[in-house]
Amino acid sequence: MKRVFSGVQPTGNIHLGNYLGALKQFVELQDDNECIYCIVDMHAITVPQDPKTLREHTLDVAALYLAVGIDPKKSIVFVQSDVSGHAELSWVLTCNSYTGELSRMTQFKDKSKNKESAPTGLFTYPILMAADILLYDTDVVPVGNDQKQHIEICRDLATRINNKYEKTFVIPDGRFLKEGARIMALDDPTKKMSKSAENIHSRISLLDEPSKIKKSIMKATTDSEGIIRFDVENKPGISNLLNIYSVLADKSVEKLEAQYAGKGYGDFKKDLVEVTVEALAPIKARYEEIRHSDELMDILKEGAQRADAIAQKTMARVKKNFGLGLGR
Ligand code: TYM
Repeated sequence: MKRVFSGVQPTGNIHLGNYLGALKQFVELQDDNECIYCIVDMHAITVPQDPKTLREHTLDVAALYLAVGIDPKKSIVFVQSDVSGHAELSWVLTCNSYTGELSRMTQFKDKSKNKESAPTGLFTYPILMAADILLYDTDVVPVGNDQKQHIEICRDLATRINNKYEKTFVIPDGRFLKEGARIMALDDPTKKMSKSAENIHSRISLLDEPSKIKKSIMKATTDSEGIIRFDVENKPGISNLLNIYSVLADKSVEKLEAQYAGKGYGDFKKDLVEVTVEALAPIKARYEEIRHSDELMDILKEGAQRADAIAQKTMARVKKNFGLGLGR
């Protein structure tokens, strides 16, 4: 069995990009692997957070994990800050990283653009992410395409340390979906769908009302050609919608192109609204059921204990190999 680890930041706007790029894979992987899924609240504080809202959002995402089908009997679900090994390992990795490689991270470059100074946590964000992954001897990390660079630096750090000290870490592989790996913004299909974009119609959040879903999809940017054809370069808008449709309805893009040959964007969008509303309805219902339950708290508590047991073993090995502590 392979060990799978992934995480999602706690925000109130978990959207179709997160779902199709990551969460859907989480569910698919849990039958044949040992899966560990985390809500990464320590990553969230790399930008300012209101403490009360942060905790609410952490529970929102935990409830969404369960609502999309993550089964706590099969997978470990927990909150990052409940396991101290993440911060401990992060420091050890920091001491084996270079400012040069961190400066090259596109996400850091984007977030610190035009600023004289940026928060240090934003700069070292990829190291904490590497710690998350390496702490659990992870084989496979299911993520969206936007995390590719972060997986690469994690592999680099682990390899560097394995070569310098005793073999300490498992080298993980990223798992990216071909279709749906990068869901683009509905209002501007050259940018990725993002939780922080100002225009709420740029994304569909998993808990959106059907009327909001309808509005966002009907307003989605397409092109003037009026032909439903997948061509990311010349027709990024309709290609993005085809992608979304394809993953939600579990139908290939080619099949959809054939199904909509001779039809217009209006028909296609109307059907996509239906497909989306139908796919999200059971998620929303399950979410409402569990969000304020004791069951959710119990699952997270037990998850943290199980995660901590694995993390402590890794930290003991790390300390031994690095000569940290008393060695007993
Ligand atoms: P986050 O919280 O931004 O996003 C969660 C997951 O959703 C994917 N995703 C997308 N996939 C396709 N299209 C999009 N438009 C889109 N937007 C987001 C992300 O790739 C991600 O898989 N750094 C991570 C969280 C993290 C993590 C980890 C992930 C922290 N530690 C360890 C894996 C392993 C992040 O900010 O994801």
